[in-house]
Parts: sequence; C-alpha cells; structure tokens
Amino acid sequence: MDTATSTGAVVWLTGMSGAGKSTIARALVERLQALAIRATVLDGDVLRTGLNSDLGFSEADRTENLRRVAHVAALFCQEGFVAITATISPEPEHRDNARHIVGKGRFVEVFIDTPFDICEQRDPKGLYKRARRGEIASFTGIGSPYHAPASPDIVLRTLESSIDECAQQLVEHLTREHLLQRG
Ligand code: ADX
Repeated sequence: MDTATSTGAVVWLTGMSGAGKSTIARALVERLQALAIRATVLDGDVLRTGLNSDLGFSEADRTENLRRVAHVAALFCQEGFVAITATISPEPEHRDNARHIVGKGRFVEVFIDTPFDICEQRDPKGLYKRARRGEIASFTGIGSPYHAPASPDIVLRTLESSIDECAQQLVEHLTREHLLQRG
C-alpha cells in the first residue's frame, strides 16, 4: 500500500486579502490528504469567528491574532501534521515571530504574490469596496500597510500559475526540503 507519513511542518501563506491564500491552502490540503499525509488548514477568517473573535485589526490585535495562529500551528506540527495557515500577516515581525514559535527547520514562509490592483478587482468578499467607502478602518492595502517578505522560502504568482500549479509547487518544495516523508 502506498502510505506516507509527515514529519510535521507549517506552511505559512502570507498575502493580501483576495490574493488566493485560502484557495491555495484548500488545494494543498486536498493534495496532501490524497497522499495520506495528515494536514490541516488554519484560515484567518475562520479562526477570527471563534478562537480570535475578541480581536480586531489594530497592530496589537493582529500581532496577538498571529501569535495564537502560530501556536496552534506549532501544536499540529508537533503532532506530525502539515499545518497550512492562511493569514494576511502583513508585517515581517509577524512572520518572524511565527517562525520562532514553530522552529526554523519546520517553517515554510510562502508569499502569495498577487498585485494589489488584482486583489482589489477580485474583491471576493466586497471588502475593498467597503474599505474605499470608508466603512472598514485599517483595511490592509488601503488604510493599513502590507509589507511583502524580502526573502520568502517560496513565491507563488497567481497571475502566472493556476491554483493547481501553485499547490503542486508547494508539494515539490516540501518534498525537496524533506518535510514530507513517504515510507
Ligand atoms: S491578519 O492581518 O491578522 O493576518 P487575518 O488574515 O487574520 O488578518 O484576517 C484577514 C481577513 O479578515 C480578511 O481576509 C478579511 O476577510 C477580513 N478583514 C476584516 N477587516 C479587515 C481589515 N481591516 N484588514 C484586513 N482584513 C480584514
């Protein structure tokens, strides 16, 4: 039987709202699960409805939100799961803290590189329009900055690659880095 075990990893997707993080996370988790690798998605939008529902979008709240996400991801990682996080995580400090919490060798920083104009055009939740109307304070890319990673482990360009290709690039990266073990 073709079985596979994972040594545990955190795939930390960062990018603006509408960049494609959640979609790529879901595509990746399906691929990994099809390989019998234990994997889960930790989506910022979902976590903000429960665990992080007490937090907003001030600098301090984003920092706390992402600290919690990193700790939950680290717990999954310690149990051998591949935890795929999908959060804007707009500042280098957020991603560096997460890497520190998880442990350097198990943390993969992935920049979902979708140009701002495209994210705003896609506007899957209608939030950019609302932010432009002044209805959402501190919206990332409008009232609040997004600082792209200077040297991410991998960059996915959603204008050039399909969702499936992005997921495949991640599987290949994880395989190359020996973060997925088959046996
Ligand atoms: S983060 O900045 O703390 O990493 P997170 O990824 O958890 O953000 O949540 C982002 C999601 O919250 C967005 O995809 C969007 O649906 C929603 N959202 C609501 N208000 C804002 C805001 N001011 N800035 C960014 N996203 C917001």
